[in-house]
Amino acid sequence: MDHFANTGGELHAEQVSLAVIAREVGTPVYVYSRATLSRHARVFREALAALPKVHIAFAVKSNPNLAVLRLLAKEGYGADVVSEGEMNRALAAGMKPEDIVFSGVGKTRAELIAALRAGIGQFNLESEEEGVELSEIAVDLGARAVCTLRVNPDVDARTHAKISTGKAENKFGVAYDRAADIYVRLSALPGLDMRGLAVHIGSQISDLEPSRQAFIKMGALMMTLREKGQSVTHMDLGGGLGVPYKADDALPTPADYGRMVSDVAQDWGVTLMFEPGRVITGNSGVLVTEVVRVKQGTDKPWIVVDAAMNDLARPAMYDAWHDFAAVKPSGESMIANIVGPICESSDTFAMARDIDVVKAGDLAIFRTAGAYGATMANTYNSRPLVPEVMVDGDKWAIVANRIEPAAILAAEQVPAWLD
Ligand code: LLP
Repeated sequence: MDHFANTGGELHAEQVSLAVIAREVGTPVYVYSRATLSRHARVFREALAALPKVHIAFAVKSNPNLAVLRLLAKEGYGADVVSEGEMNRALAAGMKPEDIVFSGVGKTRAELIAALRAGIGQFNLESEEEGVELSEIAVDLGARAVCTLRVNPDVDARTHAKISTGKAENKFGVAYDRAADIYVRLSALPGLDMRGLAVHIGSQISDLEPSRQAFIKMGALMMTLREKGQSVTHMDLGGGLGVPYKADDALPTPADYGRMVSDVAQDWGVTLMFEPGRVITGNSGVLVTEVVRVKQGTDKPWIVVDAAMNDLARPAMYDAWHDFAAVKPSGESMIANIVGPICESSDTFAMARDIDVVKAGDLAIFRTAGAYGATMANTYNSRPLVPEVMVDGDKWAIVANRIEPAAILAAEQVPAWLD
């Protein structure tokens, strides 16, 4: 459920007209609904209420906007970060260092040092090599690094190949069969405090069975470690729960997910940690765009909009579907192709889609753009970096300015020897 609805013949974000935002800020622009974000944060937390000890770390990568992070900090969320940049955002938003988890297969030495100095709560180690390096750094700094070991359970998440992370051929975590030995070796190193295991098998997961299989395997590994005398007090089960991109998408709800986790992990005697991203932010945002031109096609008309693959990369990267709707629908529909202005054919949002009739100058939205939308934007074709707005009831504010091409140009220089 979200708070983007048609009232009085036009689409609103909560009580604010999207046409008003488009007029004042220009297009393309991302618009987030505070009520939707808060609702998703609470629904996810309530879905886990039956579990004894829970820590939720929002996957910052899905939407790192400072206002979004602040809102989630106020909802009691910590953060799952994958770079120093994300860590600094989470801290700037008011999240406590001890509530931050640092994931990622390529944390640099500089990042490990910065995170240790900041006192972050947990490192999810992705390799034995990373653990050895972190141990040396921790000893040098006179610090202790609290860690879990990320394990690759070799389970197929049955999602898009590019966002699957838990198969043996994926780069993430250590091999399941080697994990116990690596854990034992790492826990003997100075400066490291090994407290558990981590797993994350993929994103936009629409079937809970692979996660259940992965969690069962993790529970077995936890028991093996305990039998070896190791302490396991934390189990990080990652994120990945999918969201509906189409009205008729049948997806497990957070409550279904909570029940599955509870079935598998109720008696583990650990703090369970979660790293949800998309399920919190996905339906909380839309991308507002203006139709530049309707171009006659050989077969179907081309709706050329002012948003492009640099603003919303998901259709080009993963053939992802985002519903398209006119801000002021006439009630009539048409079959058309929707494309952006960028000079390559992958800048296509939809082909042969049944959509509201639109004409040049009309406003429209791409729905479910709150996760992996603005955060993956870039300036390809020397386009501006897309701005972001947050709505709260009848209030709204710009939460990220449009970065104009002139500002990017100003960061470049021609060396004297070229002239
Ligand atoms: N934890 C880890 C270790 C992750 O790698 C990810 C996502 C998450 C948590 C959050 O997953 P979520 O709950 O959002 O599914 N750009 C792609 C998605 C990439 C996901 C990467 N990892 C897309 O637009 O679909």
